Amino acid sequence: MTDPILAIETSCDETAAAVVAGRTIVSNVVASQAELHAPYGGVVPEVAARHHLGTVNGVVDAALDGAGLTLGDVRAVAVTARPGLIGALLIGVATAKAIAYAARKPLVMVDHLHGHIAASWLDPVALDPPFVSLVASGGHTRLDLVRDLRTPELLGQTIDDAAGEAIDKGARLLGLPYPGGPALERLASTGSRTAHEFPVGLRGAGVRDFSYAGVKTALLYVVRERGDDPLPEGERADLAASYQEAVVRPLADRLIAAAVDAGVPAVSLGGGVAANGRLRELVAEGAAAAGLRLAVPDRSLCTDNAAMIGAAAQFTDEIPWPEYLAEDAVATAPPGGIAA
Ligand code: KG4
Ligand code: ZN
Repeated sequence: MTDPILAIETSCDETAAAVVAGRTIVSNVVASQAELHAPYGGVVPEVAARHHLGTVNGVVDAALDGAGLTLGDVRAVAVTARPGLIGALLIGVATAKAIAYAARKPLVMVDHLHGHIAASWLDPVALDPPFVSLVASGGHTRLDLVRDLRTPELLGQTIDDAAGEAIDKGARLLGLPYPGGPALERLASTGSRTAHEFPVGLRGAGVRDFSYAGVKTALLYVVRERGDDPLPEGERADLAASYQEAVVRPLADRLIAAAVDAGVPAVSLGGGVAANGRLRELVAEGAAAAGLRLAVPDRSLCTDNAAMIGAAAQFTDEIPWPEYLAEDAVATAPPGGIAA
């Protein structure tokens, strides 16, 4: 195995560690906290951070064991340093710094979105630039032009809610449990996509940004108008299908339009919303019509994981031992794109 990297990800509610060597995922361990946060209808930052603290060492050990390696065998330690929940990020960064320092290894501070974008570079998808990437998750919705994996160029992003957040909030309005994506998709499968005309945010041919405040409010009004009457199942299914369409169609349309505009031969999907069957269908249709390759990593690489952080680490400058002890986690995304 050439140059294995140990990668750690704790930016939200998954405690994850992986060993990646080039494009090969040697081990990939994810401990999800989703059930812990479900009763609250969303991720509780303090709960997430405390849980990472109790879990991260075991997850790192499992990733090394799974790869049949010890810390001494890895070339560098990589960690998600931004953006994310600050308490959650700090657990990963402090752990990675301690491990790297003790083993006299370099440290790589990775941007979480860079990770999502680089996931499709890993085997077996093995996508090479140039391509346009869509990352749509509970926290992020963005399009990047990737001419070089070191410096993805931000083309557009949400100006309010993330697509996954809009889906989760819509699902909640329809009485579905958190996280709402899979439940909403299931309900939508028996409904009509055209039963309700929900507004699509920021229309226009050249638009690459997204807005979900309007569609969310529109659904709220429809549900509120019904007062206390429980909605009949068929009507709920129609609302779910029409709402889902209003959230995912602009993602697909703008991804394909951006790729055609940039003249690149491929598009990639990432983030938890990439699991959505209707989004995949629309993107596949659009890509086929435009003659684009569509790269979608396995679902386990679309949702938060550390293998993608190990991938992005290979396109991020390393900090040599021991110069990283003062490095810090950052909650916010840098304006304009990835901080490499
Ligand atoms: O990437 P992810 O696992 O976590 C982060 O937000 O970072 O994404 C989770 C989001 C949630 O909003 C969830 O509802 C959404 O992805 N999601 C889906 C589906 N599965 C998960 N949205 C639509 N359809 C799905 N099948
Ligand atoms: Zn993510």
